Amino acid sequence: MARINTNYQKLQAGYLFPEIGKRVRAFAAQNPAAKIIRLGIGDVVLPLPPPIVEALKAGADELARKETFKGYGPEQGYDFLLSAIAGHYREQGAQVEPDEVFVSDGSKCDTANIQEIFAADSLIAVTDPVYPVYVDTNVMAGRTGAADASGRYAGLTYLPTTAENGFDPPLPASRVDLVYLCSPNNPTGAVMSRDSLVRWVAWAKANKAVILFDAAYEAFIREPGLPHSIYEIPGAREVAIEFRSLSKTAGFTGTRCAYIVVPKELKGFDASGAEVPLHGLWNRRHTTKFNGVSYPIQRAAAAVFSPEGRAAVRANIDAYMENARLIREGLTAAGYAVHGGKNAPYVWLKVPGGLTSWQFFDKLLGEANVVGTPGSGFGSCGEGYFRLSAFGFRENVEEAVARIAAKLPAR
Ligand SMILES: Cc1ncc(COP(=O)(O)O)c(C=O)c1O
Repeated sequence: MARINTNYQKLQAGYLFPEIGKRVRAFAAQNPAAKIIRLGIGDVVLPLPPPIVEALKAGADELARKETFKGYGPEQGYDFLLSAIAGHYREQGAQVEPDEVFVSDGSKCDTANIQEIFAADSLIAVTDPVYPVYVDTNVMAGRTGAADASGRYAGLTYLPTTAENGFDPPLPASRVDLVYLCSPNNPTGAVMSRDSLVRWVAWAKANKAVILFDAAYEAFIREPGLPHSIYEIPGAREVAIEFRSLSKTAGFTGTRCAYIVVPKELKGFDASGAEVPLHGLWNRRHTTKFNGVSYPIQRAAAAVFSPEGRAAVRANIDAYMENARLIREGLTAAGYAVHGGKNAPYVWLKVPGGLTSWQFFDKLLGEANVVGTPGSGFGSCGEGYFRLSAFGFRENVEEAVARIAAKLPAR
């Protein structure tokens, strides 16, 4: 009898984006003339810049010639890309060696898979609201009990990040072995300060805990002085794994390329309490379950770090951040309390008039024909909030903001 992993039965239905899709389809069917603007899902819209596409094509051309053909590459990634990534870290004031970098096909997989190298009874903390992958993968692995009516799982520690604490994750009040932090944050758009990261690194050291630091949006940080990498903090190499992705940074959501850093100093503990380097464990896991990102994609990824690639990628990020500014300023002028959008491509607004997140979703769709993401979909502390994404074409963003200001002013 093929028995299933019953932990999957604890999972709450993958409710958020299917439900958004269902409501938008129903509205569009009833209102065929409505021009719906989607600022919901965080996917890029601008094409890959020329220096990156040229590198991609050149990589493909190499595969077409006998002299330069390549089959399996190193599972961890080609040296040319690992060195480019380590060089980029150095420029940001963080020490990362090429052989501490593991190239992958996405931060979703990396943040999902990392829990495999930790004990089944590890105690996990996540922020609330949260990127759902961190939670669901620990549910699948059996680290939680059932979910309650608010969607919170027994056995997980939730760290509320709300306007009241400036969206800065508070340290856990009870024992925790692993904590997922995301900065710049999806969905709140908040960025952790240097002081906050210093506090977290000290906490992790004192508690022999590991920080799983998701920096998928680091390239969107604008304000000087804010940390792009947790490794800018002294001591972080002993307590943190960092995830980065080219998805939003360089338009690779469809192309797929990301990376994870596991420093050599970072240790976990075995059943006898002896230290075990996590680098070797992750290397074992990665090389057993993954066979590397394709060569042309790695060539394209390396081009992201070239001078031309950087300039092109920067121009796209500038365009998205200009959208974020338009949303932030436009909605503030319309009376909304608005967070994020300064160093992240997400604007997190307080739902006006005491509505729930889903009630506001329906109102926004019905009256302004604009689609966003209800905050409650990211956790119970997201109730009463709403996420708008800056990933769109400027003209659509302008129109969406003008419609919201005209039809749904928050005064
Ligand atoms: C916080 C966060 N981490 C990771 C990812 C995954 O990115 P990818 O798998 O495209 O690299 C996303 C994507 O939306 C995200 O928002």
